[in-house]
Amino acid sequence: PVIPQFAVPMTVPPVLAPSSSSTTTDYYTVTMKKALKEIVPGTLTEVWTYNGQYPGPTIKARSGRRVVIKQINNLDMPTSVHLHGAKVPVDSDGSPMDTIAPGAARTYTYPNDQAAAPLWFHDHAHHMESEHVYRGLSATYQLSDDAERSLPLPSGSYDVPLILRDGRFDEAGRLIYEMEDFLNRNTILVNGRPWPYFQVAARKYRFRILNSTNNRFFNLQLADGTSFVQIGSDGGLLEKPYSTTSVWLSPGERADVVLDFSRYAVGTQLVLKNVGLPGPPETNQVMRFDVVRTASDYSSVPDRLRTLPTPPVATVNRSFTLRMDEDGRPGAAAYINDQTYDPNRIDTRITWGSTEVWTVTNANQLAPHNFHLHLVQFRILERNGKAPQPGEAGLKDTVSLLAGETVKLLVTFNSYRGIYLYHCHIFDHGAMGMMGTMEIV
Ligand code: C2O
Ligand code: CU
Repeated sequence: PVIPQFAVPMTVPPVLAPSSSSTTTDYYTVTMKKALKEIVPGTLTEVWTYNGQYPGPTIKARSGRRVVIKQINNLDMPTSVHLHGAKVPVDSDGSPMDTIAPGAARTYTYPNDQAAAPLWFHDHAHHMESEHVYRGLSATYQLSDDAERSLPLPSGSYDVPLILRDGRFDEAGRLIYEMEDFLNRNTILVNGRPWPYFQVAARKYRFRILNSTNNRFFNLQLADGTSFVQIGSDGGLLEKPYSTTSVWLSPGERADVVLDFSRYAVGTQLVLKNVGLPGPPETNQVMRFDVVRTASDYSSVPDRLRTLPTPPVATVNRSFTLRMDEDGRPGAAAYINDQTYDPNRIDTRITWGSTEVWTVTNANQLAPHNFHLHLVQFRILERNGKAPQPGEAGLKDTVSLLAGETVKLLVTFNSYRGIYLYHCHIFDHGAMGMMGTMEIV
């Protein structure tokens, strides 16, 4: 179908209210179920949802306050819910084999024992996560803390999530799912709507951007080439803001930016473009900001946003090589250190409390990958032998790796013990085997 661009207004996913609260804990109930949504104008698309909402409802959590979510699976497939970027005990990590059967329920406990960060939760059922997330099982989880809330950043209705994804629809509005189909996914959705417009006031906004695609690398820019300010990434605020004209986001990565529309006259229309890795030409546009009114603005971006702790010195070095079969053979697989994922094998044994340098290389000639660790946030020490760009200098949980690139990560394992995953966050690659296990003992 030909879907017009900038024809529907952007919406913002509703915030889910706890079903009950105690002095320490907020309790939520979420039901995974199918729903019909108008995505392609004039048709209804079957999506898989958390609570009938697409994208799923936003959960707002606070550091130091526990969240307990009862997840009820009313779909006809097993599911597993992973809170991406969170430090959680292993039984609540939503690992691929630890699934909720159709008709069953499971309770996940999130201690929120970490600083403010733009987390998100998504399906992780083994070999099915790619399709399940594509069909809609994805939602944001905003963890805030007092330090972040005390900053004079734009807030309230000026603090807006932008959940990006792509898709391919047939004439009846159905989402078409195929593995490794990124060259055909020609529709960009923001908060579940195709290339929406968003009416803004001529003032500063904070946008919390999430790349929730299976396999699309965004490089976001404003059509007029002007700059905006990046204030945060996967692991929360950067130490200091920096001004940039683009933000690169591989699947699973987040960027927190402040965009000041006060430089535009009322009536201005400004397209957010994507100049990331090549794809269908329609994916070069993301959404449009329409400046429709003036507004007062008492917000500001402080020069100092946060002080990150000095990381301990590393005592262990490890290397990880990511590679997939690139010759288009049927049954192509994807590997970490030449092995495909085996949930019954421990690939990396880690001593609790240790700090390590992980050197991760994308050994492919063409295929991009990225690398995500469960449980921990890391620092990027080097990208291709150089210091990381300012946008990558904060805490991260996912790092982009184009063909041939190498990054060095500094990781400390001092929270929970148990078996966790690391993997390429292109879900198709994970399903093809690019996933490994680490046991912290
Ligand atoms: Cu968002 Cu194991 O992933
Ligand atoms: Cu990959």
